[in-house]
Amino acid sequence: MVKLNLDLGLRGRSLLALAEISDAQMLGLVDLAIQLKARKKAQEHLDNPLLRGKNLCLVFEKSSTRTRCAGTVAARDEGASVEYLGRGDIHLGKKESVEDTARVLGRMFDGILFRGFAHATAETLAREARVPVWNGLTDTWHPTQILADLQTMKEHFGTLEDLKVVFVGDGRNNVCNSLLVGCAKAGIDVVDCCPPALSPAPEVLAVAREAAERNGSRVEVVHDPGEAVAEANVVYTDVWVSMGEESRFDERLHLLEPYRVDMALMRRTGQLAHDGVIFLHCLPAFHNTETELTRRLGPLEVTDDVFEAPFSKVFDEAENRMHTIKAILLASLAAP
Ligand code: CP
Ligand code: NVA
Repeated sequence: MVKLNLDLGLRGRSLLALAEISDAQMLGLVDLAIQLKARKKAQEHLDNPLLRGKNLCLVFEKSSTRTRCAGTVAARDEGASVEYLGRGDIHLGKKESVEDTARVLGRMFDGILFRGFAHATAETLAREARVPVWNGLTDTWHPTQILADLQTMKEHFGTLEDLKVVFVGDGRNNVCNSLLVGCAKAGIDVVDCCPPALSPAPEVLAVAREAAERNGSRVEVVHDPGEAVAEANVVYTDVWVSMGEESRFDERLHLLEPYRVDMALMRRTGQLAHDGVIFLHCLPAFHNTETELTRRLGPLEVTDDVFEAPFSKVFDEAENRMHTIKAILLASLAAP
């Protein structure tokens, strides 16, 4: 039997941003996800589902493939039932205040996975629902993504020690913000490589740097991609235009063109020859000619040869979304 360490001090708690939990709790969730992956492989969850009788809902204001499916499969694997409430399905913020919707959902559901625009909406939900609310992405943070990224790094390198992670692209988006904080909490050196106009907010940097100081690691902002990726173990990118920012498309294309991750940049890590580097992307990615946009413009944030290379671990990373979200659900809701 795979041993699970569910006792992380997170029972009954929401998770809206990584800074809300201790470094040990965050690393505990990553380890729990690794245990749950082994447990699922052994099919042990079928004999002893840990969320039997629980009702969860997914309140999603934005589209999602991975987060929605990860939440749904994680909950069902453990015997919980799940209701998906997309934009247009409920009155949230239109005919009914967020506060009132939260109070209703909290009377019926045991937990809420939320994806939305303003981070304040997630905070209001968590405050008023009085059941755990987990952030499946807001404009500011994407904490569950970074747990999956850390799991992928730990599985690949066997450890999170002595790693250097470089994010290349929109250095102030939700994924990058959470990556800065998550890496710093794990004691990983992290570099945010971005155009000056897309630098991280001072308050995000302050949270990350406080964690880095605690853990003896470094958080840097660098504007030159070649310089930034030297000796990187992980090169990470994300879309250049996040959901809700579509009107900024032309401006972003112009700013981020020099920040595309291609083979030449991967070579600048100096790590390819000895398998010392992996490529990560939270997905979805504009890398090929299969979308209307890339047929017209070619690859955006990453080229096909990088995306499809053996050192690209993006689909391990995507799978790990399920195991890490399951870790959060169980740490919050499973009976002691
Ligand atoms: N990475 C991620 O959150 O993907 P989805 O938008 O498909 O959920
Ligand atoms: N930064 C992206 C992440 C998608 C998973 C967005 O918010 O659209």
